[in-house]
Amino acid sequence: MRKLKVNFLQRFPTVAGCAYSGKVFRITLTTLIVTLLAPLLVATLLLESPINPEPFSYKEPPLLTGPLEPNLKLRQAERLFDGQLIGPESIAHLGEVIFTGTADGQILKISDGQIHTLARIGKLPCGTREDEPTCGRPLGIRVGPNGTLFVADAYYGLFEVNPVTGEVEMLVSAQKIIQGRRMAFVNDLSITQDGRKIYFTDSSSKWQRRDNRYLVMEGTADGRLMEYDTVTKQVEVLMDDLRFANGVQLSPAEDYVLVTETTMARIRRYHISGLRKGGHDIFFDNLPGFPDNIRPSSSGGYWVGMAVLRPNPGFSMMDFLAPRPWLKNLIFKLFSQEMTMKFVPKYGLVLELNEDGSINRSFHDPHGVVVPAVSEADEHDGYLYLGSYYSPFLCRLDLNKV
Ligand SMILES: *[C@@H]1O[C@H](CO)[C@@H](O)[C@H](O)[C@H]1NC(C)=O
Ligand SMILES: *[C@@H]1O[C@H](CO)[C@@H](O)[C@H](O)[C@H]1NC(C)=O
Repeated sequence: MRKLKVNFLQRFPTVAGCAYSGKVFRITLTTLIVTLLAPLLVATLLLESPINPEPFSYKEPPLLTGPLEPNLKLRQAERLFDGQLIGPESIAHLGEVIFTGTADGQILKISDGQIHTLARIGKLPCGTREDEPTCGRPLGIRVGPNGTLFVADAYYGLFEVNPVTGEVEMLVSAQKIIQGRRMAFVNDLSITQDGRKIYFTDSSSKWQRRDNRYLVMEGTADGRLMEYDTVTKQVEVLMDDLRFANGVQLSPAEDYVLVTETTMARIRRYHISGLRKGGHDIFFDNLPGFPDNIRPSSSGGYWVGMAVLRPNPGFSMMDFLAPRPWLKNLIFKLFSQEMTMKFVPKYGLVLELNEDGSINRSFHDPHGVVVPAVSEADEHDGYLYLGSYYSPFLCRLDLNKV
């Protein structure tokens, strides 16, 4: 280090020798830095952080080896309806017809390659952050046993929708106070085969869907898994204090229900019947990314869509920030949620889990070239349909080719 400096000065003696201009330069530089940084410092001291994070830490993310070994399989997916719909988060199939809910509050019906608006739960206008609570945001969508659709709208609650007429019936209003708390972010649902019970999540009582970055970064632990009885119309809280309760999926035998806990990068399990009825445990701990929706796979396991990777080897921003709440506060004093999203590296990732919770296989798209992020992987007729909460297209992967 020292040697290098001496050589440098010897080679440019004029720089070292000119003490006066060197001093001027130093003063100018210091003044410049102070002028630029002082307001920033004052601003960070005066500004209030929108979040109130508690420190916590993750386990070291799993190594991307074995069934998690990165591959390019997700790049074999084809994009469908590019530019014709935005943010098809969740997907349901009824024969050859596809249903999905989009970021502009619509429930779309896609048949014979044509997109139609089936229903709209909220009101126009739509398209901005300010409009979102009144526009509505259909997230989880399922086909029930009678061939009707069941939809979880982030702002309005649970609905049944007629797939032909588009008639909408409210089942549970998001305004309903449940055990003293409102539902600020209704997210996903799963229905029993007899149609009697609907399991659903409210991701948070505090943060709405449009503030999901705050929810993740604050690590708020107020998400709930709930059960709606379609006969008694009662709602019961099964699990509370979840950090971003997200996707929901009943097991094939309907003896338990899985719920992804996004902020914790894990999947929880609630036992509905059997010896462990009413109890819960962790189905999958320490995922290689942050999970979104979970859907059945034809092998009796589950597909898990992942929003953001926790690379190992590599650097995971969320893992780094978790024990440093002061840094999270600083970030949100300086940047908007939309801005922070731009720093998140794109990476398409879908996992297939076996029914015992082990990893069967994974499909990757490093850098998200074709599939930038996966909110849900929905298997139908040998294809995996991939949703995204922000992309302007659906993706479809031929499972026979991977
Ligand atoms: C299905 O239809 C039957 C007969 O109309 C009705 O009793 C039942 O409640 C319906 N189930 C659902 C889930 O809508
Ligand atoms: C993946 O699932 C298939 C179908 O159930 C099974 O035959 C196979 O053994 C599984 N592979 C692993 C690695 O778990």
